[in-house]
Amino acid sequence: MITSLSLVQGFGVDIGGSGIKGCLVDLDKGQLIGERVRIETPQPSLPDPVYRVVAEIVGSFGWTGRVGVTFPGVMKSGVAHTAANVDKSWIGTDVDAGMSALIPGTVETLNDADAAGLAEMRYGAGRDRRGVVLMLTFGTGIGSALFVDGHLVPNTEFGHIQVDGEDGERRASAAAREREELGYPEWAQRVDRYLDVLEAGLWPDLIIVGGGVSKKAHKWVPLLSTRTPVVPAQLQNDAGIVGAALAAHENLEPRAHG
Ligand code: BGC
Repeated sequence: MITSLSLVQGFGVDIGGSGIKGCLVDLDKGQLIGERVRIETPQPSLPDPVYRVVAEIVGSFGWTGRVGVTFPGVMKSGVAHTAANVDKSWIGTDVDAGMSALIPGTVETLNDADAAGLAEMRYGAGRDRRGVVLMLTFGTGIGSALFVDGHLVPNTEFGHIQVDGEDGERRASAAAREREELGYPEWAQRVDRYLDVLEAGLWPDLIIVGGGVSKKAHKWVPLLSTRTPVVPAQLQNDAGIVGAALAAHENLEPRAHG
């Protein structure tokens, strides 16, 4: 029997508040190829220094193909529209253009949670799931990615729904847990309240929870009282890189029409 030895490769970069991580990705398996490279996010996290770090990471692999890059804010046609947890100077910046000037291949930018969600839907906890699936990433903020029969509804910003008069992510993000030194049971109550409000307006069939805290899912997911089943993400730290590479490869970036 002849088996195909060809490997579909992509390249993804995940821009986070503390680190910028990139790696070659095996797009058949949804796995990193070799070790990822991580460089501290420049502080303040202004566009130009961040572009240079992204270019350095891509260059260190000698990669010249399409590059997928995540950004922790609303991304439409390459332009950042919000910057909740990074420097406000990103707002209105054409990130695609800024990076393309320093990187040989075409750059595709997308929201970080959308990228993580794409990876989970293709390779992880959401594989083959139809209906309405909501991915939530708990980190510095709360990111969201909504899928209808496997299709992404880009740039949902459910981290910012109002919960008891406050921005949802302010009290229920993983950063809030650390900042306020909450134990998992106490934090789970906040996540539960957050999900309560979310479920008042949305009836998903499945919620996938990602971010570092998904590794400890057994400590808090069973404490939730949501009507929607909640499962931990499977790709964990690599989901953003894998999803970005996938989006660039398949050109999944949502384009404005008209
Ligand atoms: C941002 C989202 C982002 C999320 C996770 C939120 O504060 O508004 O765009 O996906 O944080 O980084």
